[in-house]
Amino acid sequence: MVYYRRTFNIYPYVLLTLLISVSFFCLSGRYVENHGVIHNMWFNTTTQEKKGYYMTQFVDSYWDNGSLPIWITGLKAGSLHFPGTAATYKGETVRLREVEPRLYDYSNETEWRLNIDKVIGEWFHQQDLDFVSLYFGEPDGTGHRYGPDSPERREMVQQVDRTVGYIRDKIQDHCLTDRLNVIITADHGMTTVLRGAQVEEMILYKIPGFNFSDIQFHLVDYGPVGMLLPKDGIHPHLHVYKKEEMPVWLHYIRHAQLLPIILFADPGYFFPVQFNKGEHGFDNQVMDMKPFFRAVGPDFQKDLVVGPFETVNVYPLMCHLLGINPEINDGHLDNTKQMLLPKKNTEGNNSTGKFCSLVMLLLHYYVPAHVVITWLD
Ligand SMILES: *[C@@H]1O[C@H](CO)[C@@H](O)[C@H](O)[C@H]1NC(C)=O
Ligand SMILES: *[C@@H]1O[C@H](CO)[C@@H](O)[C@H](O)[C@H]1NC(C)=O
Ligand SMILES: *[C@@H]1O[C@H](CO)[C@@H](O)[C@H](O)[C@H]1NC(C)=O
Ligand SMILES: *[C@@H]1O[C@H](CO)[C@@H](O)[C@H](O)[C@H]1NC(C)=O
Ligand SMILES: *[C@@H]1O[C@H](CO)[C@@H](O)[C@H](O)[C@H]1NC(C)=O
Ligand SMILES: *[C@@H]1O[C@H](CO)[C@@H](O)[C@H](O)[C@H]1NC(C)=O
Repeated sequence: MVYYRRTFNIYPYVLLTLLISVSFFCLSGRYVENHGVIHNMWFNTTTQEKKGYYMTQFVDSYWDNGSLPIWITGLKAGSLHFPGTAATYKGETVRLREVEPRLYDYSNETEWRLNIDKVIGEWFHQQDLDFVSLYFGEPDGTGHRYGPDSPERREMVQQVDRTVGYIRDKIQDHCLTDRLNVIITADHGMTTVLRGAQVEEMILYKIPGFNFSDIQFHLVDYGPVGMLLPKDGIHPHLHVYKKEEMPVWLHYIRHAQLLPIILFADPGYFFPVQFNKGEHGFDNQVMDMKPFFRAVGPDFQKDLVVGPFETVNVYPLMCHLLGINPEINDGHLDNTKQMLLPKKNTEGNNSTGKFCSLVMLLLHYYVPAHVVITWLD
């Protein structure tokens, strides 16, 4: 009943809590409706063409839509596998980059270590980069495949935990501990999807008055979000909004690429186009959707626990640490600066900025509260 095309094994998703959009607002500090990278899938409603996540990475016009990512700021920046790495922004690309091959195994721990060796040992230590963004596609893939509460997902979190330890060891080995700030965060959480008798199925073509021939174009991908151009249907767990009526906190209203009619399902409900057991992309106010944030380094306080903040605030924080002027963005340093040591917690530029590099890891998925990653000092 719904269109679906899968191009490779781990297929991250967008919107409020969807991969590309959130990753991009990590790097640009802009909400989805402002940066315009609205979905994991590129599409053109005139030609009906759609591209899956991997090929979307090479559509420059999709990424370069007015918001510059932090890589393009005169910094010596690098990026490994981070969404948006392949694109050119106002004629520039990130200085050092590595885009994963088309069929990439995002879960291979040996590969993770080789990538970390490259980033820490070569990019930071030998080539003295200022900033690197590094992306891992797990435990997202495992969470989708087996569900967020599965033993497989727990095992993958252990692999992530070992990897965080490996990163810290490598930083130590290269005597970078006092110079490198590390931020580890995620683009979204995940919740268990409901199936069979747990749900009342919504089958679009069975909705009275619904006829696919009335629709010019639809982007009903897997997951909880769909967009139509136009005509709506009715289901108690499927909300159909005119885009200007979308809840404001989702920041999913303003961009032209957002189609006039948006379908948005309640947590646990989704468009059943694949066999995922876990899903994200639901309302960002749902606890299961929330990512985590951890940071360590010479400019951060130790053993400090802070309250929640929106991911758009990560970008002004990174700019501050790097001593660069942020582009226009939707976040504010005031929301994160309490994490910094007093010497860094000052207005304006500070010459220590240029000695301070920063790694950002996007672990594509959150860690539930009962799983503790033990890596703080
Ligand atoms: C979609 O394709 C049409 C026809 O090729 C083109 O004119 C238009 O600019 C495209 N729109 C986008 C957003 O790429
Ligand atoms: C952003 O993309 C839209 C098409 O999707 C285009 O109309 C607009 O001009 C682009 N804006 C910038 C600043 O590149
Ligand atoms: C994992 O990656 C390493 C290094 O690229 C490779 O040698 C190994 O065969 C991979 N393992 C699997 C299970 O694919
Ligand atoms: C859908 O619309 C087409 C064209 O108007 C019509 O031929 C078809 O019978 C309609 N299908 C249903 C189920 O109403
Ligand atoms: C920070 O330094 C940059 C580059 O040296 C400069 O362009 C900018 O005006 C400075 N910003 C502030 C707030 O001092
Ligand atoms: C920058 O940091 C240094 C050392 O941490 C401090 O002594 C200095 O006052 C700071 N400068 C500004 C402009 O905040």
